Amino acid sequence: MSGGRTVRRTLMGIAVCGALALGLAACGDDEPSGGGGGDTTAASAAKAVALLLPETKTTRYDEQDKPLFEAKLTELCPDCTLSYQNADQDSAKQLTQAEAEITKGVDVMVLDPVDGKAAAAIVDKAKAAGIPVISYDRLLLDSEPDLYISFDNEQVGTLQGEALAEKLKTDGNPTGPIVKINGSPTDNNATLFKKGSNAALKAAGVKILIEYDTPDWSPDKAQTFMDGQITKLGKDGFKGVYAANDGTGGGAIAAMKSAGIDVTTIPTTGQDAELAAIQRILVGEQFMTVYKAIKLEAEAAAQAAVDLANGTTPSSATSTVNNGKIDVPSILLTPVAVTKDNVKDTVVADGFYTAAQICTGDFAAACTEAGIQ
Ligand code: GAL
Repeated sequence: MSGGRTVRRTLMGIAVCGALALGLAACGDDEPSGGGGGDTTAASAAKAVALLLPETKTTRYDEQDKPLFEAKLTELCPDCTLSYQNADQDSAKQLTQAEAEITKGVDVMVLDPVDGKAAAAIVDKAKAAGIPVISYDRLLLDSEPDLYISFDNEQVGTLQGEALAEKLKTDGNPTGPIVKINGSPTDNNATLFKKGSNAALKAAGVKILIEYDTPDWSPDKAQTFMDGQITKLGKDGFKGVYAANDGTGGGAIAAMKSAGIDVTTIPTTGQDAELAAIQRILVGEQFMTVYKAIKLEAEAAAQAAVDLANGTTPSSATSTVNNGKIDVPSILLTPVAVTKDNVKDTVVADGFYTAAQICTGDFAAACTEAGIQ
């Protein structure tokens, strides 16, 4: 037996879990039988899991990804320990956080990188220490993660571009033009959102006046950029705004509002179905967002983490994605476009938010209009 990790795995091999909706195999101990065999039950259930997420400026990570992951992990493996770290949009900080987890000797690492390229160093170090790595939501590039779990991110961009083009046509502005606010250049997802949305907008003949790649996905930087564009282009100089997520979309909308623009006449896109965005959509201040069932993503990651921590290869991968070094076994989930017309049938129906959470104060009347109660 080589290396402390291998020893610990053999000694501690059993974990308790259940199969997820995605038909993921029930994890088990190291024994091929998968049964709860062996006399190591008490000790073996305790696996150390590290969850490293990238940002605090976008609400999903602390509000959805972490709690949903933690709940599923606890269900699957009551004695597992979770070490959660958020990198605050700081790639160097994430490297330090990861090194600390590797030094601690965690059994598996679930990593959503601030910078997909820079994080290759983390994957290399973890793998050298015998720690399996799951590439969570954003693809880890130029390295050898064990599994990639995300959504079809090019499709996210396609949904955004098509919805905006359709709305512009309905508004009588089929060719726009628009201002385009993309995501962070260090995030591989932003590259895919951009690819999908540019192709859809181009196919519809929509003119893009200017594109901006938002450092760190910062809503405040998106707002500052939009302030500048309004000054340069004038209040009537554009007919729509592409924003890659709700955070940057919210920043652009705030800039337009403070310039005295009636934002209900300028369709703006988004992503993540943040609560504030759903409320904006209901009152017409934002045109659409993209709902991604983070519960499915986080739960698939928890299941795979328990599998890998127990030395079992997750059986849930349905495709592969090349990351510049290997074809990473992958699970790619399906995103859904959300406008005022289907808030009820998507985020409410899925229990992502309750009507009580959405329909507060000034939003109550809009909820009634949208049939949400
Ligand atoms: C992307 C993620 C999105 C988004 C963004 C900012 O990688 O898929 O949901 O919000 O990061 O954190």
